[in-house]
Amino acid sequence: MDVGIIGGTGPLGRGLALRLAAAGHRVLLGSRDAERAEGICAELRDAAGGALAAGSLQGVANVDATVPDMVVLATPWEGALATVAELAEALHGRTVVSVGNALVRHGREAHAVVPPRGSVAAMVQAALPGCRVVAAGQHLPARSLADFGQPFAADVLVCADDAEARQAVCDLLCTVEGLRPVAAGSLAQAAAIEAFTAVLVTVNIGHRAHSTLRLAGMTLPVHGDGRPPGHEDAADVPVAHVGGASAGGGSRP
Ligand SMILES: NC(=O)c1ccc[n+]([C@@H]2O[C@H](COP(=O)([O-])OP(=O)(O)OC[C@H]3O[C@@H](n4cnc5c(N)ncnc54)[C@H](OP(=O)(O)O)[C@@H]3O)[C@@H](O)[C@H]2O)c1
Repeated sequence: MDVGIIGGTGPLGRGLALRLAAAGHRVLLGSRDAERAEGICAELRDAAGGALAAGSLQGVANVDATVPDMVVLATPWEGALATVAELAEALHGRTVVSVGNALVRHGREAHAVVPPRGSVAAMVQAALPGCRVVAAGQHLPARSLADFGQPFAADVLVCADDAEARQAVCDLLCTVEGLRPVAAGSLAQAAAIEAFTAVLVTVNIGHRAHSTLRLAGMTLPVHGDGRPPGHEDAADVPVAHVGGASAGGGSRP
C-alpha cells in the first residue's frame, strides 16, 4: 500500500520508511524541504543495498506525503499541532498514525510530560476531527529500525477509537518483518503507552541498550504466518516486560 510520512527525515521516519519499503509498500517520505527528503531517501536506498524496489521510496514535501490514505505523523511532538493545523485540509479523511511521545530529558532519565488532552495522539485527534488517528510505534527503537542488516523484533501497541483504522494499521505493521502489532484498545490508552516510553528510554540510557517492548503470555501472529494481526485485546495480556538490553550506546527507544 502507499504510506506517507510527515517529518519522515528524522531517525524514526527513516527507519520506518526503510522497513515499510522493504516490505513492498510505496513510501512518500515527507519533509518541510522536499530536497532534503529526497537526499535522505537516496541515503536509505544506498543503505538497503539494492533491496528496495524502484520507486518504493520517494522524498516529497510534507503536503505531498498526505496523499495516501495512511499517513504517519513523525515530527517531534512539540511541532505536531502546528504541522497538522497547516495540513488539516490535505489530511481530511486519512488514517493518521501518531508515533509521538511527549518527553523531556532530566540528566540520565527521560520524564513523560502530559500534553493537552493527555496524549500526543489525543491532541492530534482533536486537531484533526476529519481524520482517524491511531497511536502506534512509540516504543520502536529508531536506530535498530534503520539498521537494515540486523534482525529486528518488537511488539507494537496499536490503539484508536476507530476499530477499522486500528485494524488497518495492525495489518500494515504485520507486513514488516519482525514487528508484531497488538491491538490495545481505544485512543484513551495512548496516554499510558506514550508515557511508558519515558521508562524505556531511561532503561536504555542506564543499560546502554536499544531495548524495545515484548509482551509475554500471549500468542499473536508474527510476520508471514497468514493469520489476521492485532485481533486479540491487550486486556488479555498479563505481563509486559522490557527485552533486548545489550551492551552498546544510545538512549532512544
Ligand atoms: N527517535 C526514536 O527512537 C523514536 C522512537 C519512537 C517514537 N519516536 C517519536 O517519533 C517522532 C519522530 O522522532 P524523531 O527522533 O525521528 O524526531 P526528529 O528527528 O526530532 O524530527 C523528525 C523530523 O521532523 C521535522 N521537524 C523537526 N522539528 C519540527 C517542527 N517543529 N515542526 C515540523 N517538523 C519538524 C524534521 O524534518 P524536516 O526538517 O525535514 O522537515 C525532522 O527531521 C517523535 O514524535 C518521537 O517522539 C521517536
